[in-house]
Amino acid sequence: MDADLIKLVNKLQDTFANLGGELDMPQLAVVGSQSAGKSSVLETIVGRDFLPRGSGIVTRRPLVLQLIHTPAPDPAHSSQTYTEWGQFLHIDKRFTEFDEIRKEIEQETFRVAGQNKGISKLPIHLRIYSPDVLDLTLVDLPGLTKIPVGDQPSDIERQIRSLVIDYISKPNCVILAVSPANVDLANSESLKLARSVDPQGRRTIGVLTKLDLMDAGTNALDILTGRVYPLKLGFIGVVGRSQQDIQLNKSMVDAVESETEFFRNHPAYRNIAHKNGTKYLARSLNQVLMNHIRDKLPDMKARLNTLMGQAQQELNSFGDAAIYGDVNQQGGLVLRLMTQFARDFISSIEGTNMNIS
Ligand code: GDP
Ligand code: NA
Ligand code: MG
Repeated sequence: MDADLIKLVNKLQDTFANLGGELDMPQLAVVGSQSAGKSSVLETIVGRDFLPRGSGIVTRRPLVLQLIHTPAPDPAHSSQTYTEWGQFLHIDKRFTEFDEIRKEIEQETFRVAGQNKGISKLPIHLRIYSPDVLDLTLVDLPGLTKIPVGDQPSDIERQIRSLVIDYISKPNCVILAVSPANVDLANSESLKLARSVDPQGRRTIGVLTKLDLMDAGTNALDILTGRVYPLKLGFIGVVGRSQQDIQLNKSMVDAVESETEFFRNHPAYRNIAHKNGTKYLARSLNQVLMNHIRDKLPDMKARLNTLMGQAQQELNSFGDAAIYGDVNQQGGLVLRLMTQFARDFISSIEGTNMNIS
């Protein structure tokens, strides 16, 4: 039931994106300074290498990444060749090679944000269908930076900050604030920015990366157990692949295994190992997202009712042509489908016991 609910919400979000509109739906946005490990965190949640990476500013457009769980086909009874694939909103093509997805993200970045180091607010929409993912929508954002490099404009810090704030200031955005454990938490750009839009720390999850890179003799136990910085949703520690791991082609599976070992064997983290690591992060995110959607249902229903009313009025003004699919009235058809979808959506919500007022 809960997974179905998230799928419905994702579908609705897509419908609006296709119509050039936007509905204020819950999302998870990844925020952090450059090289904090944002792309690494996203990749391990997905379980595949597919994001452009490198030193400097690589992510120059927001990437709205929708993960959709698809059951693995039964090999005995299915002719389906691929179990996972990617699909962009801007191109009608199924990507079955994750290397190709990375190239397409790069090309799309160049196409809109230019060959230089500029950034664009226009998001890239990507869906990944896989049996190995939980249903989540994640937004990757350009890294927070202080000093313009190369031919970046002098106000690059302000530009990125404003882009990030556009996403995380929405009250229904869950903020994944990524901080590297080898930098003093007091200097964490992600927590500063998250606090500016979420002062009570109600919708911010702290993600502490690079625990393996802390100075010998130090550890982050106090941070991970919530004794340093108050966040209602807490801090989760992760260990991603180092640059050397990547150069040596260490697989994702091996990386998650070493991460699990790291927490299990570490004298400071042994007792909290089950509440840290990439797998625990992914599970927590799904839970947070579901709770969030539940809280928003009454408001969402009101919005949908308004949209339905508008769509109905427009439908009436189109007359029978809309119903019978006159080629000159495509707009009416779209609205009709949208109205039907909104109705299905509301009745499915009403079918649950979620106390819609
Ligand atoms: P982003 O700029 O925030 O997206 O950061 P990336 O994910 O691209 O990571 C920057 C660099 O840090 C890369 O070389 C990663 O291999 C490395 N890295 C990320 N997380 C970890 C970690 O937990 N441990 C170690 N040792 N390296 C990491
Ligand atoms: Na980077
Ligand atoms: Mg990145």
